[in-house]
Amino acid sequence: MRILVTGGAGYIGSHTAVELIQAGYDVVIVDDLSNARREVIDRIQEITGTRPLFYQINCADKKALQAVFAGNRIDAVIHFAGFKAVGESVKKPLQYYRNNLDSTLTLLEVMEEYGCRKFIFSSSATVYGPENPHSYREEMPAIQSSSPYGWTKVMIERILTDYTTAHPDFCAVLLRYFNPIGAHESGLLGDDPNGIPNNLMPYIARVAARQLEKLTIFGGDYPTPDGTCQRDYLHVVDLAVGHLKALEYAMDHKGVEAVNLGTGNGVSVLELVQVFEKVNHIKLNYVIGPRRDGDLPAFWADATKAKALLGWEAKHSIEDMCESAWRFVLHSNVQ
Ligand code: WQD
Repeated sequence: MRILVTGGAGYIGSHTAVELIQAGYDVVIVDDLSNARREVIDRIQEITGTRPLFYQINCADKKALQAVFAGNRIDAVIHFAGFKAVGESVKKPLQYYRNNLDSTLTLLEVMEEYGCRKFIFSSSATVYGPENPHSYREEMPAIQSSSPYGWTKVMIERILTDYTTAHPDFCAVLLRYFNPIGAHESGLLGDDPNGIPNNLMPYIARVAARQLEKLTIFGGDYPTPDGTCQRDYLHVVDLAVGHLKALEYAMDHKGVEAVNLGTGNGVSVLELVQVFEKVNHIKLNYVIGPRRDGDLPAFWADATKAKALLGWEAKHSIEDMCESAWRFVLHSNVQ
């Protein structure tokens, strides 16, 4: 079976492409490389021994996307492609709505043209918004977010839900990610954002590598055990395997399902820093500074549905996540 992975040169997309190839799927990657590097395709080949087909296109380019479908019988799509920087989305809402919504709408139109009816969507826990109790369950309202980036996820979930209602033989699985961190055990793939990282783990890794001077922990006065925010960090390889399980489910089912992909455990910023220092034998330079606008004190997944519906659960420890994140940086710096 041939799977189209949009945004497949990105952090989660590339890890998912590796798992798909190793599970025996043919993989076609489309990526505009706006936030990814072409050599990631080489690394996927280095890890798996198989080079995925790669097209450098933006999914909103209908003619280019039609050519990909015309040239390859696509059985299912895993859709990662989209802008994803929360802070940037607040400054550039039009670009986020245009890019993330257009690419999804165009993709669905072309899928319909070519009779492709299986869609796995890269959604986010951000759709639960600030009102829900902090152990998120899929049946809770997921209808608001705190940034244009998050709103695009809410809107795309709505688009997929309405499309599936109108096309009952379609299957859409909305995977709501918590906080993916870590890297492939080879050290060849990892979280390598352009510029200064917004997210915690890539920032920690750059401080550890002395590429950034110090980590500022955003807020030490939250109503949590140690005063710092708690999140549900999960290993990116566990997350990638979750996509495989969702694909297997989608091939045998119709309709739309939202599924949390998380460990079910909340870990604080300070705890993550301490684990990173311990497993990597590194002293991190950090200070506790003011809170970051928009941050919630604590949330994590209720991961019951993923286990029941997909037969998936996270397996890697927080130590694995920290150790693999550092190995990726060491490997990148050696290259
Ligand atoms: C985690 C914790 C920060 C950086 C975001 C998006 C979400 C998803 C994952 C895409 C928070 C603290 C961070 C730093 C810090 N992205 N922190 N110093 O905000 O939970 O989620 O990324 O889908 O949609 O909202 O992740 O890694 O930015 O922050 O103290 O330099 O680390 O305050 O408590 P977040 P994060």
